Amino acid sequence: MDSSNLKCGISESISEPTGPVPAPCNIAHDAEFCCRFTHRLRFTGDVFAAGNETLSNILNEATSDCSNVAIFIDANVARTRTNQANKINDYFKKYLPENSPKIHVVPGGEQIKNQQQNFKQILDAIEQSHLCRKSFVIAIGGGAVLDAVGFAASITHRGLRLIRIATTTLSQADSAMAVKNGINAFGKKNYMGVFSTPWAIINDEATLKTLAMPHWLAGFSEAIKVALLKDPLLFEYIYRNCGGIRARNLDVSVPVIRRSARLHFDHITLNGDPFETEDARPLDFGHWSAHKLEQMSGFEISHGQAVAIGIAIDATYANFMGWLGDADHRRILECLDGTGFRLYHRSMQHANTLLGGLDEFQEHLGGRLTIPSISRIGHAFDIFEIDTNQMLAAISYLERFNKWGNHNESTST
Ligand SMILES: NC(=O)c1ccc[n+]([C@@H]2O[C@H](COP(=O)([O-])OP(=O)(O)OC[C@H]3O[C@@H](n4cnc5c(N)ncnc54)[C@H](O)[C@@H]3O)[C@@H](O)[C@H]2O)c1
Ligand SMILES: [Zn+2]
Repeated sequence: MDSSNLKCGISESISEPTGPVPAPCNIAHDAEFCCRFTHRLRFTGDVFAAGNETLSNILNEATSDCSNVAIFIDANVARTRTNQANKINDYFKKYLPENSPKIHVVPGGEQIKNQQQNFKQILDAIEQSHLCRKSFVIAIGGGAVLDAVGFAASITHRGLRLIRIATTTLSQADSAMAVKNGINAFGKKNYMGVFSTPWAIINDEATLKTLAMPHWLAGFSEAIKVALLKDPLLFEYIYRNCGGIRARNLDVSVPVIRRSARLHFDHITLNGDPFETEDARPLDFGHWSAHKLEQMSGFEISHGQAVAIGIAIDATYANFMGWLGDADHRRILECLDGTGFRLYHRSMQHANTLLGGLDEFQEHLGGRLTIPSISRIGHAFDIFEIDTNQMLAAISYLERFNKWGNHNESTST
């Protein structure tokens, strides 16, 4: 036995003291530990249709003696899907008769993350549902509803089981795979939130048809982003099919969302840093400016549209720095433009304010500024400082690109 440990009063076992009381001393005892999580992802269409057992299988697999369910549904999903509440009730009567969950309709879009009274209402509804830690919160909606409801679920009883049913291209291609939940506060995106792994993610592909055009497009910027970082074949596919995506051809578009979902899912399960403890944010290409642009536009532009501009800025900067060749740079801008994204927003006139997004990005991350860039399509590397003049030149280049393309700023999203 280690006698120095025993002296300080910490050891593998304890025995009757044989000598004087140990003198006070500083004790340090460090040990690493790991926790296992299962990330469950399902792709389906019309999750509450009679005959669709995707959800009931997930709920039934979770053996527990207490499994109340509360459902929160994005108001725009409830509005655009006929008889959604009846369908959900019928589904539970058929497959899970012991549960008759209360359905709460919540505001869709960024307002649910911006207005704290919305968040409080979710917490109140969860409290009134008397959920225990083995109960389920089912969030149905776009990324904003999934983020806010997920945050409320993860801080109640220190974590309820969350099932995310994703209904937008962006949530299906990216955000629902993540282990992040949160709301905006103090005028900052995602300022309050937690890392917490959902019990399951279900991409309901039948919901996509009712998305408004900007929200239809939004997920494809995240798909282009992850393709540029990791998957040149995916980029080629999107580049060749950007017209079909823009025309909302599901046969062409759904494979892109599925592949993007898989790449984001694999990033969480295989990358080794799901809770982002390291400085690098390997999937955040284009995001330092995207988050700032969302704020600067008063959330007039969606996250997906802002990411498209952010990708264009970071790709142009990589080109100006000599890292990314002209041909790849041109194809990236053509792909974003051809898919239907604007690559300029009037708030970019305030380029110096936009550059403030770098500091905010670093403050959010902690540690050293670390931003992903690309040296060619599908090949990422990290950069740690920014040449301000080249970045300002990249932003101004996009203003000229916008004019060459005859884009009309007044119609931008
Ligand atoms: N947690 C993460 O890791 C992560 C990652 C990326 C983005 N996000 C967040 O996701 C949010 C953006 O999500 P989003 O792009 O899904 O947009 P969104 O949630 O803002 O939804 C866009 C609009 O579409 C409506 N809607 C949702 N589903 C619909 C449907 N099927 N039919 C018709 N309308 C529908 C919503 O009510 C809303 O008005 C942002 O807040 C962003 O910060 C989170
Ligand atoms: Zn994003």
